[in-house]
Amino acid sequence: NNQEIPQEKGLDHTIALLREGYDFIHKRKDKYNSRVFQTRILGEKANCLIGEKEAELFYDNSKFSRENAAPSRIQKTLFGQGGVQGLDGDEHHHRKALFMSVMTRAMLDEIKELTEVEWNRAITRNQTDELIVYNEAKHVLTNVAMRWVGIPKQGTEDEWVDELSDLFEDASAVGPKHWKARASRTKIEEWLQQLVLDVRSGKLLIDQDRPLYQFSYHRDLNNQLLAPEIVAVELLNLLRPIVAISVYVDFTVLALAQFPQKVDILRQGDEGDDKQLQYFIQEVRRFYPFFPFTVARVRNDFDWNGYKFEQGTLTLLDLYGTNHDPDIWEQPEQFRPERFENWNGSPFNFIPQGGGEFDIGHRCAGEWLTIDILKVTLNYFVNKISFEFPEQDFTYSMNDIPSLPESKVIIKNIRKK
Ligand code: HEM
Repeated sequence: NNQEIPQEKGLDHTIALLREGYDFIHKRKDKYNSRVFQTRILGEKANCLIGEKEAELFYDNSKFSRENAAPSRIQKTLFGQGGVQGLDGDEHHHRKALFMSVMTRAMLDEIKELTEVEWNRAITRNQTDELIVYNEAKHVLTNVAMRWVGIPKQGTEDEWVDELSDLFEDASAVGPKHWKARASRTKIEEWLQQLVLDVRSGKLLIDQDRPLYQFSYHRDLNNQLLAPEIVAVELLNLLRPIVAISVYVDFTVLALAQFPQKVDILRQGDEGDDKQLQYFIQEVRRFYPFFPFTVARVRNDFDWNGYKFEQGTLTLLDLYGTNHDPDIWEQPEQFRPERFENWNGSPFNFIPQGGGEFDIGHRCAGEWLTIDILKVTLNYFVNKISFEFPEQDFTYSMNDIPSLPESKVIIKNIRKK
Protein backbone atom coordinates (compact mmCIF):
# COMPACT_ATOMS: atom_id res chain seq x y z
CA ASN A 1 0.00 0.00 0.00
CA ASN A 2 2.74 2.39 -0.95
CA GLN A 3 1.56 5.92 -1.54
CA GLU A 4 3.33 8.73 -3.29
CA ILE A 5 4.43 11.47 -0.93
CA PRO A 6 2.00 14.44 -1.35
CA GLN A 7 3.58 16.87 -3.79
CA GLU A 8 3.43 20.61 -4.05
CA LYS A 9 2.85 21.52 -7.69
CA GLY A 10 5.05 23.95 -9.57
CA LEU A 11 8.59 24.19 -10.85
CA ASP A 12 10.31 25.68 -7.85
CA HIS A 13 9.33 27.10 -4.45
CA THR A 14 12.59 28.67 -3.30
CA ILE A 15 11.00 32.15 -3.45
CA ALA A 16 8.08 30.98 -1.30
CA LEU A 17 10.52 29.43 1.16
CA LEU A 18 12.41 32.72 1.46
CA ARG A 19 9.16 34.66 1.81
CA GLU A 20 7.45 32.34 4.31
CA GLY A 21 10.60 31.45 6.25
CA TYR A 22 9.89 29.67 9.53
CA ASP A 23 6.25 29.08 8.52
CA PHE A 24 6.90 27.42 5.16
CA ILE A 25 6.82 23.77 6.29
CA HIS A 26 4.15 23.78 9.00
CA LYS A 27 1.71 25.70 6.78
CA ARG A 28 2.04 23.04 4.10
CA LYS A 29 1.70 20.27 6.66
CA ASP A 30 -1.76 21.71 7.34
CA LYS A 31 -2.52 22.24 3.66
CA TYR A 32 -1.66 18.67 2.63
CA ASN A 33 -2.71 17.22 5.97
CA SER A 34 0.56 15.30 6.02
CA ARG A 35 3.73 15.45 8.06
CA VAL A 36 5.65 14.35 4.99
CA PHE A 37 5.34 16.20 1.70
CA GLN A 38 7.49 17.02 -1.27
CA THR A 39 8.30 20.41 -2.76
CA ARG A 40 11.02 21.76 -5.06
CA ILE A 41 13.72 24.11 -3.84
CA LEU A 42 16.95 25.31 -5.42
CA GLY A 43 15.95 23.40 -8.53
CA GLU A 44 15.56 19.96 -6.96
CA LYS A 45 13.00 17.73 -5.29
CA ALA A 46 12.93 18.13 -1.52
CA ASN A 47 11.09 16.11 1.12
CA CYS A 48 9.89 18.06 4.13
CA LEU A 49 9.35 16.42 7.53
CA ILE A 50 7.81 17.85 10.69
CA GLY A 51 7.06 16.25 14.06
CA GLU A 52 8.48 13.89 16.68
CA LYS A 53 8.32 10.55 14.81
CA GLU A 54 9.53 12.32 11.71
CA ALA A 55 12.53 13.71 13.62
CA GLU A 56 13.31 10.20 14.82
CA LEU A 57 13.25 9.02 11.21
CA PHE A 58 15.47 11.90 10.08
CA TYR A 59 18.12 11.06 12.69
CA ASP A 60 18.30 7.38 11.68
CA ASN A 61 21.83 7.24 10.22
CA SER A 62 20.99 4.15 8.19
CA LYS A 63 18.37 6.15 6.29
CA PHE A 64 19.89 9.61 5.85
CA SER A 65 23.34 10.97 5.07
CA ARG A 66 24.89 14.44 5.26
CA GLU A 67 27.29 14.23 2.36
CA ASN A 68 26.46 17.03 -0.10
CA ALA A 69 23.35 17.91 1.84
CA ALA A 70 23.99 21.59 2.68
CA PRO A 71 23.80 23.90 -0.36
CA SER A 72 27.28 24.98 -1.38
CA ARG A 73 26.52 28.70 -0.92
CA ILE A 74 25.75 28.02 2.74
CA GLN A 75 28.97 26.05 3.13
CA LYS A 76 30.94 28.97 1.76
CA THR A 77 29.53 31.27 4.46
CA LEU A 78 28.02 29.53 7.47
CA PHE A 79 29.67 26.12 7.79
CA GLY A 80 32.91 26.14 5.83
CA GLN A 81 34.06 23.21 3.73
CA GLY A 82 35.28 19.87 5.05
CA GLY A 83 33.85 20.31 8.55
CA VAL A 84 31.96 17.92 10.82
CA GLN A 85 28.51 18.87 9.47
CA GLY A 86 29.10 17.11 6.14
CA LEU A 87 30.71 13.90 7.48
CA ASP A 88 29.03 10.49 7.88
CA GLY A 89 29.68 7.24 9.71
CA ASP A 90 32.99 6.54 11.50
CA GLU A 91 34.62 9.68 10.17
CA HIS A 92 31.81 11.78 11.62
CA HIS A 93 31.84 9.93 14.94
CA HIS A 94 35.60 10.44 15.30
CA ARG A 95 35.49 14.17 14.46
CA LYS A 96 32.44 14.74 16.63
CA ALA A 97 34.24 13.15 19.57
CA LEU A 98 36.82 15.94 19.29
CA PHE A 99 34.05 18.53 19.73
CA MET A 100 32.40 16.67 22.59
CA SER A 101 35.80 16.23 24.33
CA VAL A 102 35.97 19.99 24.98
CA MET A 103 32.44 20.05 26.44
CA THR A 104 33.42 18.67 29.85
CA ARG A 105 31.85 19.97 33.05
CA ALA A 106 35.09 21.81 33.89
CA MET A 107 35.23 23.50 30.47
CA LEU A 108 31.55 24.45 30.71
CA ASP A 109 32.05 25.89 34.20
CA GLU A 110 34.93 27.90 32.86
CA ILE A 111 32.88 29.41 30.04
CA LYS A 112 30.14 30.30 32.53
CA GLU A 113 32.67 32.22 34.61
CA LEU A 114 34.10 33.97 31.55
CA THR A 115 30.59 34.97 30.50
CA GLU A 116 29.84 36.62 33.83
CA VAL A 117 33.22 38.40 33.88
CA GLU A 118 32.66 39.78 30.38
CA TRP A 119 29.08 40.94 31.09
CA ASN A 120 30.33 42.67 34.20
CA ARG A 121 33.02 44.41 32.22
CA ALA A 122 30.54 45.48 29.53
CA ILE A 123 27.98 46.77 32.01
CA THR A 124 30.58 48.62 34.10
CA ARG A 125 31.55 50.45 30.93
CA ASN A 126 27.94 51.27 30.10
CA GLN A 127 26.25 51.97 33.45
CA THR A 128 23.38 54.48 33.16
CA ASP A 129 23.79 54.72 29.41
CA GLU A 130 21.60 53.18 26.80
CA LEU A 131 22.71 49.87 25.48
CA ILE A 132 21.71 47.77 22.49
CA VAL A 133 21.69 44.29 23.95
CA TYR A 134 22.39 42.43 20.70
CA ASN A 135 25.44 44.53 19.81
CA GLU A 136 26.87 44.30 23.32
CA ALA A 137 26.26 40.55 23.44
CA LYS A 138 28.32 40.09 20.28
CA HIS A 139 31.28 41.84 21.92
CA VAL A 140 30.86 39.93 25.17
CA LEU A 141 30.60 36.57 23.42
CA THR A 142 33.46 37.27 21.00
CA ASN A 143 35.72 37.87 23.99
CA VAL A 144 34.36 34.79 25.75
CA ALA A 145 34.83 32.64 22.64
CA MET A 146 38.38 33.79 21.96
CA ARG A 147 39.54 33.35 25.54
CA TRP A 148 37.87 29.94 25.89
CA VAL A 149 39.13 28.58 22.55
CA GLY A 150 42.60 30.03 23.19
CA ILE A 151 42.88 32.50 20.31
CA PRO A 152 45.42 35.26 20.97
CA LYS A 153 44.15 38.72 20.06
CA GLN A 154 45.20 39.67 16.58
CA GLY A 155 43.68 42.69 14.87
CA THR A 156 41.12 44.77 16.76
CA GLU A 157 38.19 43.46 18.79
CA ASP A 158 35.77 45.17 16.40
CA GLU A 159 37.33 43.31 13.49
CA TRP A 160 36.75 39.90 15.11
CA VAL A 161 33.20 40.81 16.12
CA ASP A 162 32.35 41.98 12.60
CA GLU A 163 33.92 39.11 10.73
CA LEU A 164 32.50 36.39 12.99
CA SER A 165 29.06 38.03 12.81
CA ASP A 166 29.15 38.17 9.01
CA LEU A 167 29.33 34.37 8.94
CA PHE A 168 25.94 33.82 10.56
CA GLU A 169 24.11 37.12 10.00
CA ASP A 170 24.43 36.97 6.24
CA ALA A 171 24.77 33.23 5.76
CA SER A 172 21.76 32.89 3.49
CA ALA A 173 22.01 36.33 1.91
CA VAL A 174 22.36 36.81 -1.82
CA GLY A 175 24.42 39.44 -3.62
CA PRO A 176 26.92 41.74 -1.89
CA LYS A 177 26.21 40.45 1.62
CA HIS A 178 26.92 36.90 0.52
CA TRP A 179 30.24 37.98 -0.95
CA LYS A 180 31.13 39.97 2.15
CA ALA A 181 30.44 36.89 4.30
CA ARG A 182 32.65 34.80 2.02
CA ALA A 183 35.46 37.35 2.23
CA SER A 184 35.18 37.34 6.04
CA ARG A 185 35.39 33.57 6.12
CA THR A 186 38.47 33.55 3.90
CA LYS A 187 40.17 36.15 6.06
CA ILE A 188 39.47 34.47 9.42
CA GLU A 189 40.31 31.02 8.08
CA GLU A 190 43.71 32.37 7.01
CA TRP A 191 44.34 33.85 10.47
CA LEU A 192 43.37 30.58 12.12
CA GLN A 193 45.46 28.43 9.76
CA GLN A 194 48.51 30.49 10.68
CA LEU A 195 47.77 29.99 14.38
CA VAL A 196 47.53 26.23 13.89
CA LEU A 197 50.93 26.24 12.16
CA ASP A 198 52.37 28.36 14.97
CA VAL A 199 51.04 25.97 17.63
CA ARG A 200 52.49 23.00 15.77
CA SER A 201 55.89 24.64 15.27
CA GLY A 202 56.08 25.69 18.92
CA LYS A 203 56.13 29.39 18.00
CA LEU A 204 52.85 29.86 19.88
CA LEU A 205 52.78 28.26 23.30
CA ILE A 206 49.31 27.64 24.67
CA ASP A 207 47.70 25.65 27.41
CA GLN A 208 46.91 22.04 26.46
CA ASP A 209 43.31 22.39 27.67
CA ARG A 210 42.51 25.00 25.04
CA PRO A 211 40.47 23.81 22.06
CA LEU A 212 43.03 25.56 19.81
CA TYR A 213 45.67 23.14 21.14
CA GLN A 214 43.37 20.08 21.10
CA PHE A 215 42.16 20.75 17.57
CA SER A 216 45.66 21.52 16.24
CA TYR A 217 46.94 18.14 17.46
CA HIS A 218 43.83 16.06 16.71
CA ARG A 219 44.59 12.98 14.58
CA ASP A 220 42.13 11.48 12.08
CA LEU A 221 41.27 7.78 11.72
CA ASN A 222 44.51 7.27 9.78
CA ASN A 223 46.49 8.83 12.62
CA GLN A 224 47.25 11.93 10.55
CA LEU A 225 47.04 15.53 11.76
CA LEU A 226 44.22 17.39 10.04
CA ALA A 227 45.09 19.83 7.26
CA PRO A 228 45.36 23.36 8.74
CA GLU A 229 42.47 24.41 6.46
CA ILE A 230 40.21 21.84 8.14
CA VAL A 231 41.35 22.76 11.66
CA ALA A 232 40.49 26.38 10.84
CA VAL A 233 37.00 25.37 9.69
CA GLU A 234 36.43 23.38 12.88
CA LEU A 235 37.76 26.17 15.13
CA LEU A 236 35.26 28.43 13.41
CA ASN A 237 32.62 25.80 14.24
CA LEU A 238 33.32 26.79 17.86
CA LEU A 239 33.91 30.55 17.54
CA ARG A 240 31.08 31.42 15.14
CA PRO A 241 28.20 29.77 17.00
CA ILE A 242 29.38 31.03 20.40
CA VAL A 243 29.05 34.57 19.02
CA ALA A 244 25.71 33.59 17.45
CA ILE A 245 24.35 32.87 20.93
CA SER A 246 23.86 36.69 20.88
CA VAL A 247 20.67 36.03 18.93
CA TYR A 248 19.27 33.96 21.82
CA VAL A 249 20.60 36.52 24.35
CA ASP A 250 18.56 39.14 22.53
CA PHE A 251 15.42 37.00 22.57
CA THR A 252 16.01 36.17 26.25
CA VAL A 253 16.02 39.86 27.17
CA LEU A 254 13.06 40.42 24.84
CA ALA A 255 11.18 37.74 26.78
CA LEU A 256 11.82 39.70 29.99
CA ALA A 257 10.07 42.66 28.35
CA GLN A 258 7.26 40.69 26.73
CA PHE A 259 6.43 38.32 29.59
CA PRO A 260 7.14 40.26 32.82
CA GLN A 261 4.75 37.98 34.74
CA LYS A 262 7.24 35.13 34.15
CA VAL A 263 10.20 37.02 35.63
CA ASP A 264 9.49 37.17 39.37
CA ILE A 265 10.06 33.48 39.87
CA LEU A 266 13.63 34.00 38.56
CA ARG A 267 14.40 36.43 41.38
CA GLN A 268 15.10 33.91 44.08
CA GLY A 269 18.31 34.18 46.02
CA ASP A 270 21.54 35.73 44.89
CA GLU A 271 22.28 33.12 42.30
CA GLY A 272 18.71 32.71 41.09
CA ASP A 273 16.91 29.41 41.03
CA ASP A 274 18.77 27.11 38.67
CA LYS A 275 15.71 25.10 37.65
CA GLN A 276 13.62 28.16 36.92
CA LEU A 277 16.45 29.72 34.90
CA GLN A 278 16.71 26.47 32.95
CA TYR A 279 12.95 26.36 32.19
CA PHE A 280 12.98 29.98 31.02
CA ILE A 281 15.94 29.39 28.69
CA GLN A 282 14.38 26.22 27.31
CA GLU A 283 11.19 28.13 26.55
CA VAL A 284 13.18 30.92 24.85
CA ARG A 285 14.82 28.29 22.63
CA ARG A 286 11.44 26.65 21.90
CA PHE A 287 9.42 29.80 21.37
CA TYR A 288 11.53 32.19 19.30
CA PRO A 289 12.74 31.48 15.76
CA PHE A 290 16.41 30.74 15.07
CA PHE A 291 17.34 27.73 12.91
CA PRO A 292 14.33 27.01 10.68
CA PHE A 293 15.28 23.50 9.53
CA THR A 294 18.21 21.18 8.98
CA VAL A 295 19.00 19.11 5.87
CA ALA A 296 20.14 15.62 4.87
CA ARG A 297 19.82 13.27 1.86
CA VAL A 298 18.10 9.89 1.64
CA ARG A 299 20.89 7.30 1.86
CA ASN A 300 19.09 4.40 0.12
CA ASP A 301 15.51 3.86 -1.07
CA PHE A 302 13.22 2.95 1.80
CA ASP A 303 9.53 2.90 2.74
CA TRP A 304 8.17 4.59 5.83
CA ASN A 305 4.55 4.83 6.96
CA GLY A 306 3.55 3.82 3.45
CA TYR A 307 5.61 6.54 1.79
CA LYS A 308 8.45 5.87 -0.63
CA PHE A 309 11.70 7.74 0.05
CA GLU A 310 14.05 7.80 -2.94
CA GLN A 311 17.81 7.63 -2.67
CA GLY A 312 19.54 11.00 -2.90
CA THR A 313 16.46 13.15 -2.26
CA LEU A 314 17.18 16.32 -0.29
CA THR A 315 15.21 16.22 2.97
CA LEU A 316 14.39 19.08 5.36
CA LEU A 317 13.45 18.54 8.99
CA ASP A 318 11.42 21.44 10.38
CA LEU A 319 13.02 22.46 13.69
CA TYR A 320 10.91 25.54 14.34
CA GLY A 321 7.67 23.80 13.35
CA THR A 322 8.36 20.76 15.54
CA ASN A 323 8.96 23.10 18.50
CA HIS A 324 5.54 24.63 17.80
CA ASP A 325 3.74 21.40 17.00
CA PRO A 326 0.34 21.33 18.77
CA ASP A 327 0.54 17.50 18.91
CA ILE A 328 3.61 17.89 21.14
CA TRP A 329 3.13 21.27 22.87
CA GLU A 330 -0.03 22.44 24.55
CA GLN A 331 -0.84 25.98 23.37
CA PRO A 332 2.47 26.28 21.55
CA GLU A 333 2.01 29.99 20.85
CA GLN A 334 2.06 30.83 24.56
CA PHE A 335 5.33 31.53 26.37
CA ARG A 336 5.17 29.27 29.41
CA PRO A 337 8.56 28.23 30.88
CA GLU A 338 6.76 26.07 33.46
CA ARG A 339 5.82 23.63 30.69
CA PHE A 340 9.38 22.31 30.98
CA GLU A 341 8.71 21.02 34.50
CA ASN A 342 6.87 18.15 32.88
CA TRP A 343 8.81 17.78 29.65
CA ASN A 344 9.66 14.12 29.02
CA GLY A 345 13.20 14.86 27.77
CA SER A 346 12.70 13.14 24.41
CA PRO A 347 15.60 13.77 21.99
CA PHE A 348 13.06 14.19 19.17
CA ASN A 349 10.29 16.56 20.35
CA PHE A 350 12.29 19.64 21.39
CA ILE A 351 14.88 20.31 18.72
CA PRO A 352 15.97 23.98 18.45
CA GLN A 353 19.56 22.80 17.96
CA GLY A 354 18.75 19.54 16.20
CA GLY A 355 17.68 16.20 17.65
CA GLY A 356 18.90 12.66 18.21
CA GLU A 357 22.25 11.89 19.75
CA PHE A 358 25.34 14.06 20.17
CA ASP A 359 27.99 11.41 19.55
CA ILE A 360 26.80 9.47 16.53
CA GLY A 361 24.26 11.98 15.27
CA HIS A 362 24.49 15.56 14.09
CA ARG A 363 22.80 17.14 17.09
CA CYS A 364 24.46 20.48 17.93
CA ALA A 365 27.78 19.97 19.73
CA GLY A 366 27.30 23.26 21.56
CA GLU A 367 23.86 22.76 23.06
CA TRP A 368 24.98 22.41 26.71
CA LEU A 369 27.35 25.34 26.28
CA THR A 370 24.54 27.45 24.79
CA ILE A 371 22.21 26.68 27.70
CA ASP A 372 24.93 27.44 30.26
CA ILE A 373 25.88 30.78 28.68
CA LEU A 374 22.22 31.78 28.46
CA LYS A 375 21.51 30.82 32.07
CA VAL A 376 24.42 32.93 33.35
CA THR A 377 23.31 35.81 31.14
CA LEU A 378 19.65 35.57 32.21
CA ASN A 379 20.66 35.45 35.87
CA TYR A 380 22.92 38.47 35.34
CA PHE A 381 20.15 40.54 33.75
CA VAL A 382 17.52 39.55 36.31
CA ASN A 383 19.48 39.35 39.55
CA LYS A 384 22.66 41.42 39.16
CA ILE A 385 21.53 44.58 37.38
CA SER A 386 18.44 46.75 37.08
CA PHE A 387 17.40 48.52 33.89
CA GLU A 388 14.39 49.79 31.95
CA PHE A 389 13.11 49.32 28.45
CA PRO A 390 12.62 52.60 26.53
CA GLU A 391 9.90 52.65 23.91
CA GLN A 392 11.06 50.62 20.91
CA ASP A 393 10.00 48.21 18.18
CA PHE A 394 10.07 44.65 19.55
CA THR A 395 8.58 43.04 16.43
CA TYR A 396 10.61 40.42 14.62
CA SER A 397 10.25 38.95 11.17
CA MET A 398 9.38 35.34 10.42
CA ASN A 399 11.56 35.18 7.33
CA ASP A 400 14.90 36.71 8.24
CA ILE A 401 17.43 34.05 9.17
CA PRO A 402 18.41 34.67 11.85
CA SER A 403 15.49 36.80 12.94
CA LEU A 404 15.98 39.56 15.55
CA PRO A 405 13.73 42.14 17.23
CA GLU A 406 13.71 45.31 15.06
CA SER A 407 15.25 47.42 17.85
CA LYS A 408 17.75 44.67 18.73
CA VAL A 409 16.46 45.32 22.28
CA ILE A 410 17.51 48.59 23.88
CA ILE A 411 17.83 48.97 27.66
CA LYS A 412 18.54 52.16 29.66
CA ASN A 413 19.19 53.39 33.22
CA ILE A 414 21.39 50.38 33.81
CA ARG A 415 22.65 49.96 37.37
CA LYS A 416 24.42 47.16 39.18
CA LYS A 417 22.45 45.84 42.12
C1 HEM B 1 25.08 21.70 14.69
C2 HEM B 1 21.93 25.08 16.15
C3 HEM B 1 25.26 26.92 19.12
C4 HEM B 1 28.52 23.79 17.39
C5 HEM B 1 23.93 22.45 14.87
C6 HEM B 1 22.68 22.19 14.20
C7 HEM B 1 21.80 23.13 14.61
C8 HEM B 1 22.48 23.98 15.54
C9 HEM B 1 20.35 23.28 14.16
C10 HEM B 1 22.44 21.10 13.15
C11 HEM B 1 21.75 19.89 13.71
C12 HEM B 1 21.54 18.88 12.61
O1 HEM B 1 21.83 19.15 11.45
O2 HEM B 1 21.07 17.77 12.90
C13 HEM B 1 22.58 25.90 17.03
C14 HEM B 1 22.00 27.08 17.62
C15 HEM B 1 22.93 27.59 18.45
C16 HEM B 1 24.11 26.74 18.38
C17 HEM B 1 20.59 27.61 17.36
C18 HEM B 1 22.81 28.83 19.27
C19 HEM B 1 23.57 29.83 19.01
C20 HEM B 1 26.40 26.18 18.97
C21 HEM B 1 27.61 26.36 19.73
C22 HEM B 1 28.53 25.49 19.23
C23 HEM B 1 27.90 24.76 18.16
C24 HEM B 1 27.75 27.36 20.86
C25 HEM B 1 29.97 25.24 19.63
C26 HEM B 1 30.58 25.85 20.58
C27 HEM B 1 27.86 23.00 16.49
C28 HEM B 1 28.53 21.96 15.70
C29 HEM B 1 27.53 21.35 14.93
C30 HEM B 1 26.28 22.03 15.24
C31 HEM B 1 30.00 21.61 15.73
C32 HEM B 1 27.72 20.20 13.93
C33 HEM B 1 27.40 18.90 14.61
C34 HEM B 1 27.48 17.71 13.69
O3 HEM B 1 27.35 17.86 12.46
O4 HEM B 1 27.66 16.58 14.19
N1 HEM B 1 23.79 23.54 15.69
N2 HEM B 1 23.85 25.74 17.49
N3 HEM B 1 26.61 25.19 18.03
N4 HEM B 1 26.53 23.02 16.17
FE1 HEM B 1 25.17 24.30 16.93
